[in-house]
Amino acid sequence: MNIKNVHYVFFSPTGTTQAAIRAVGNGTGRTAGQMLDITVGAPEGAIPFTKEDLVIVGMPVYSGRLPGLAVERFRAIGGKNTPVVPIVVYGNRAYDDALVELSDLCAAQGLHTVAAGAFIGEHSFSTVEFPIAVDRPDGEDLQYAEQFGSRITQLLDTCESVAQLALPELPGNRPYKSAMQPVPVATCTDPQACTQCGKCVACCPTQGIRMTDAGPVTEADNCIWCMACVRNCPTNARRVSLAKINDSALRLHNACKARQEPECFLASVSATT
Ligand SMILES: Cc1cc2nc3c(=O)[nH]c(=O)nc-3n(C[C@H](O)[C@H](O)[C@H](O)COP(=O)(O)O)c2cc1C
Repeated sequence: MNIKNVHYVFFSPTGTTQAAIRAVGNGTGRTAGQMLDITVGAPEGAIPFTKEDLVIVGMPVYSGRLPGLAVERFRAIGGKNTPVVPIVVYGNRAYDDALVELSDLCAAQGLHTVAAGAFIGEHSFSTVEFPIAVDRPDGEDLQYAEQFGSRITQLLDTCESVAQLALPELPGNRPYKSAMQPVPVATCTDPQACTQCGKCVACCPTQGIRMTDAGPVTEADNCIWCMACVRNCPTNARRVSLAKINDSALRLHNACKARQEPECFLASVSATT
């Protein structure tokens, strides 16, 4: 297949998903095309990709599913027999139904899955006190991701069109497990530590934080607990006030100590064209 460019589409509040998919893309050896970051907003207008593009889509796993906001924003992306590599990144617990969900979502948008992967990223709820998968994806993960990218290129070079490629069954169930039920409690700010720099306002995926004279105010209904504001705060002024999240961090810290490894799935080439 005559693939010219590799394009990236990602939702990545704390950056681990972006890191993993960029390594896969680098490994393909193809020229980098569009970098569509849908973390803080939907792309402008519909993006039509062609069969000469390769798209790598990355989303984090939230409660074994994809973040609803990411799914909504991804619907602006469209393709026509465009090869796509869906990749989910999870915090060393499990990715449950998220990878099949992402592959199905790509198919609904006209993108044909030729390979898929699940990588591990430092858990969004990880803290100094309760570390979970700290610094993942690490050097080993990124090396694996690059090798995966190179195997994708080898696969695409062996065939004429995506119609020849059939993906093995991906792990996960249909119907998917129930999505996380939102609780209207938001991250909050320590007024002593806050310098009102506005980084939390800029990085919030839901635009749920606004700056006031008294500091940032977070709308509880809009908080998806992605931890973008907590990770991006230069003075560590952003906190999680929700006991449920802090309890989760402790539980995951204890239960998910064993290192999970990335997994990749490649389509096989059918004999008939
Ligand atoms: C609300 C929420 C739910 C999550 N659920 C899961 C999960 O079910 N399994 C898991 O292993 N990690 C889970 N995580 C961790 C993220 O998938 C992981 O930290 C990922 O690397 C974050 O990606 P990002 O850095 O691109 O934002 C969850 C994180 C959040 C914020």
